[in-house]
Amino acid sequence: MSILHIHCSPRGRASESHRLSQHIIERLLRASGDAAPAVIDIDATRLPNVDDDYAAALSSPVDPADDVLARGALRQSSELIDALRQATHIVIATPMHNFTVSAALKVWIDHVVRVRSTFRITPEGKIGNLPDRPVYVAVSSGGEFSGEAARQPDFLTPYLTHVLGTIGLKNVTFFSVQGTARGDAALQAARASAQAAIAAHPMAA
Ligand SMILES: Cc1cc2nc3c(=O)[nH]c(=O)nc-3n(C[C@H](O)[C@H](O)[C@H](O)COP(=O)(O)O)c2cc1C
Repeated sequence: MSILHIHCSPRGRASESHRLSQHIIERLLRASGDAAPAVIDIDATRLPNVDDDYAAALSSPVDPADDVLARGALRQSSELIDALRQATHIVIATPMHNFTVSAALKVWIDHVVRVRSTFRITPEGKIGNLPDRPVYVAVSSGGEFSGEAARQPDFLTPYLTHVLGTIGLKNVTFFSVQGTARGDAALQAARASAQAAIAAHPMAA
């Protein structure tokens, strides 16, 4: 088992989404039975935005020369895609920011959703090139975005489902701690509910 853990909160390891993702990872490790599992961490808040070479390459019908591919965001992108290819399981931790994914997660997405690499364009639309495997997403939000208490739209879960599906990752499961801004009792209840959902989920080995 090789878990790729991408964490995307400006609050780092103190964040609620990181905390939730650790529960997912612990559950995966318990379920695996692998004597030597690996967990590779990527702190997406440290990724630079894509650059001009990258933007030019993605809007061109062919890839640029090797020296261009070997520098800047194109090189960073290749490294992030390699890490994605090598993982057997992917765990993403993100807060909801302005109804969708955090800016750091969007930067990671911009690096890994790459034409001629992780997807191809066909007459029927974009088709993913990555072999499918389980993706678990830990979401934290100040208010509720699902269920009867939700008073805001959710552009996070449909967006992330669609964009990961574009590169071939269709097996996406969300866990969430919602209502972190509603005081300690609500936070404890939301944590307990999320942890129960993780414990009850049949994690793919
Ligand atoms: C820039 C920003 C935008 C936010 N937007 C939302 C939002 O749209 N909906 C929501 O419920 N909470 C929103 N929040 C609150 C966070 O989702 C909440 O504090 C969450 O628990 C943070 O998770 P973290 O500890 O993993 O960073 C926002 C927070 C920040 C800093």
